Amino acid sequence: MGIYEEALAQQDFMQAMRHELHMHPELSFQEFETTNRIERELNAMGLTCKRFEPTGLMTEIKGAHPGKTVLLRADIDALPVTEETGLPFASQTPGVMHACGHDVHTSMLLGAAKILLNHKDEIHGTVRLVFQPAEENGQGAKTIIAQGAADGVDYFFGQHVKEAIPVGSVYAAKGPRMAGAREITITVHGKGHHGGMPHQADGVDAVLAACQIVVSLQSVVSRRLNPADTGVVSIGMITAGPAPNVIPGEVVMRGTIRYRTEEVHEIIVKNMKDVIENTAKAFGATAELSLSDPFPPVINDDWASDCALAAAEKLVGKENIVPAIPTTGAEDFGNYMSHGKACFFSIGTNGKYPGHSPKLDIDENVMPYGCSMYVLTALEMLERGNKE
Ligand code: NI
Repeated sequence: MGIYEEALAQQDFMQAMRHELHMHPELSFQEFETTNRIERELNAMGLTCKRFEPTGLMTEIKGAHPGKTVLLRADIDALPVTEETGLPFASQTPGVMHACGHDVHTSMLLGAAKILLNHKDEIHGTVRLVFQPAEENGQGAKTIIAQGAADGVDYFFGQHVKEAIPVGSVYAAKGPRMAGAREITITVHGKGHHGGMPHQADGVDAVLAACQIVVSLQSVVSRRLNPADTGVVSIGMITAGPAPNVIPGEVVMRGTIRYRTEEVHEIIVKNMKDVIENTAKAFGATAELSLSDPFPPVINDDWASDCALAAAEKLVGKENIVPAIPTTGAEDFGNYMSHGKACFFSIGTNGKYPGHSPKLDIDENVMPYGCSMYVLTALEMLERGNKE
């Protein structure tokens, strides 16, 4: 029996797990019951777990022979979305939904655990299964890495469901996959005054300065970056003013930046700072920029990608490997990439609605494929890695 057939034999189990998780979704860092549920399932397989604070957990399957360590990652959190699928196993928690397929990832990794346990005798090395919390707020990976999740790991593999490609296909590429990201906050200080008499405040209008800053910021990507490079600067929130006839003393704007390389990251930050400070100055205001911690890009390592591509080829054949186009979306899997050779692929679900949609539909026939990708990639990485 091949790995895919073994995964097919786990379909009922994975589907039941998925329905249960889907009915009881929990938000980032609140996945307490989800963590308990996964732990019970792993314990029932005879595995012991290390829990992370506040949520998430990992376990290890040690092969019968010594060797390298590979980490397989599934994320476990849900989103603040009100489900509109009408499914019989729809969310029972108002305003929360597994709208990104993390319930599917978790179930596929639990299925993979069962298969790997059946192959312990052939495994050279260790497979660490990580059920990561808080992917949606970008904080989970770095939080559990600080608690030892990546310690002693040589290779990393993660995957995400993808609606735009058919079930039975794998979306894969070496090199850049997802962008690095940082949240930005710009605070503009002016002089609060009567809206009917702006001149009495020396014309120092924080709203006017802020609007000019938003416009000028768009010159950073269009004029400062090499057009061949990728960068994004977006402002998504502008907060100011208590009343229509009052010029407020302060405007706070929040947004996001995206980039693929450290060089572009530095160019964007430096030029944003210049534009913000000097534009404010031109209007008699002052402004400062603050940035969240960087969210590293997902750049697939060549060696790790070769292993996962070989696994995909065994599973679906070369003709069903869809070349992945890099996106400016973000994924906190990038945090693992500095700890070893890592890659992140996607797996087709042929859905009508994209991730984060309240109508997200996932063809559950994806599960044996995703489960097999976990198993086959781990085996491939160990086999090739142990020879090095
Ligand atoms: Ni997701």
